[in-house]
Amino acid sequence: MRIDILTLLPALLESPFSDSILKRAKEKGLCDVVVHNIREYSKSKQKQADDYQFGGGAGMVMMIQPIADLIEKLKEERTYDEIIYLTPDGNTLTQRTCNELSLKGNLMMLCGHYKGVDQRIRDHYITREISIGDYVLSGGELAAAVLSDAIIRLIPGVLNDESSALTDSFQDDLLAPPVYTRPADYNGMKVPEILLSGNTPKVEEWRYEKSLEKTQRLRPDLLDSEE
Ligand code: 6GU
Repeated sequence: MRIDILTLLPALLESPFSDSILKRAKEKGLCDVVVHNIREYSKSKQKQADDYQFGGGAGMVMMIQPIADLIEKLKEERTYDEIIYLTPDGNTLTQRTCNELSLKGNLMMLCGHYKGVDQRIRDHYITREISIGDYVLSGGELAAAVLSDAIIRLIPGVLNDESSALTDSFQDDLLAPPVYTRPADYNGMKVPEILLSGNTPKVEEWRYEKSLEKTQRLRPDLLDSEE
């Protein structure tokens, strides 16, 4: 998979991709993340990338020209499955969307800033608009990092067996059960007996019950959801 991220603040996207799982995915050649600085594509003398909005009002708008030129250039180089705009007024991200996007080959992500981008970019180029939750961030960069992380870890081969994505919370609409490691008794705080029994079917049954119980208590909405 290849992910191209278009941003006014490329520095914000350096560290999330240079550590841990995302770094390993890159090294294994399973995923390539390329960050592009929108400002470099501005044709104005000052490398301007935002301007006042027509009709008046506070806040700058990201200009059409640098973004359109950058998108056109990238589209000449390869075919994109989705061109995603990260914005608080997009569709709220779900695990289902992450699963779907993890099967794609080429993704482009445009990070919004200030009042957002000129609507014509959204109308002409964007195929999907995504928000990562009902709160406002200063820009789409951290959201693009969140979305990329959630997608990349699902690509086959990125995770090893111990951290398999199949047993994550949400993957089957249930929260993950509690987990424990050694010691079995820490100052009187004991690990549930069943986990020490070596009886795998019993352990699985216990985990499922705990998942169900935890989901009922903390996220009953997940249990009513269709499909
Ligand atoms: Cl994608 N962008 C911004 N600026 N704020 C957000 C968001 C995105 N998702 C939730 N809040």
